[in-house]
Amino acid sequence: MVDTILAADGLCKHYYLGGQKIDIINDVSLAIGKGEFVVIAGNSGSGKTTLLSILAGLDLPSSGRITIAGRDITGLTEDQLAPLRNGLTGFVFQAFHLIPSLNALENIMFPAEIKKDPQAREKAEKLLDQVGLLPRRKNFPEQLSGGEQQRVAICRALINRPEIIFADEPTGNLDSSNSEGIIRLLLDLHDDRRTTLVIATHSQALASRADREIRLHDGRITDDNRVKL
Ligand SMILES: Nc1ncnc2c1ncn2[C@@H]1O[C@H](COP(=O)(O)OP(=O)(O)OP(=O)(O)O)[C@@H](O)[C@H]1O
Ligand SMILES: [Mg+2]
Repeated sequence: MVDTILAADGLCKHYYLGGQKIDIINDVSLAIGKGEFVVIAGNSGSGKTTLLSILAGLDLPSSGRITIAGRDITGLTEDQLAPLRNGLTGFVFQAFHLIPSLNALENIMFPAEIKKDPQAREKAEKLLDQVGLLPRRKNFPEQLSGGEQQRVAICRALINRPEIIFADEPTGNLDSSNSEGIIRLLLDLHDDRRTTLVIATHSQALASRADREIRLHDGRITDDNRVKL
C-alpha cells in the first residue's frame, strides 16, 4: 500500500446565483498515493477545474476537508499556505499569469530565488532547454506566444521540484509536438523523482499514460480506475 499524500473527505462546493443554490462539487472523497499519476477527466462543466483548485488549496470548499502530506490545509490562511505552495506543491493553472516585468528566465527562477537556491539560474536554463525555449529566455511574457507562456509557467511550477504537481489542461494550447514535450517532462519527473501528478485534462494522450483516471460527472466521481498500479 502506497502512502497517501493527498486526501479529500466529503468535499462540496456550491455557488448562489440569483438566489438559487448551484451544486458544483458533490461529496467528493478520494485518496491519492505518493508518486501516483492521476488524471481528472470529465465533460466540460463537470467540475474538473473547480475540484483541482480546491485540492490544490487555491479555492475553498463549501464543506469537507483536505489533507496534504498529513497536514490538514482546510482553513489555513494565505500566510500559512505560502511555504506549502513554494515547496511541496506546484501549479500549472491558466489563471496563474507570469510576472510581466520579468523575462522568461527570471520568471522561472523566481520561486527558486525566494528559497535562496544558489542553482536557480542553472535549473531554470535546464528547464527552458527541455521545453525548447532557451533561445527565448530573454523575452518578456508579452513577447511570447500563448503556448510559449504556458511552457514557461510549467517550468516555473517545476523549478522547486515539488512533490505534487497540480495542472489544469497543461497541454491545452499546444500543438502535438510541444504537447509531447510537456508530457515527457512531467513523465520524467514522475518516473525519476516519484513526483505525484494530478492533472485535469480532456487529452486522451495524457490520460492513456496515467496510473489512474478519476472521472467526474456533474461534480461527482462516477469512475475511478487504477489503470497501471
Ligand atoms: N464562480 C462561479 N460561479 C458560479 N458557477 C461557477 C463558477 N465557477 C464555475 N462555475 C460552474 O461550475 C461548473 C464547473 O466548472 P469547471 O470550470 O470546474 O468545469 P470543468 O470541468 O473544468 O470544465 P472545462 O472542461 O470546460 O474546463 C460549470 O458549470 C461552471 O459554470
Ligand atoms: Mg476546466
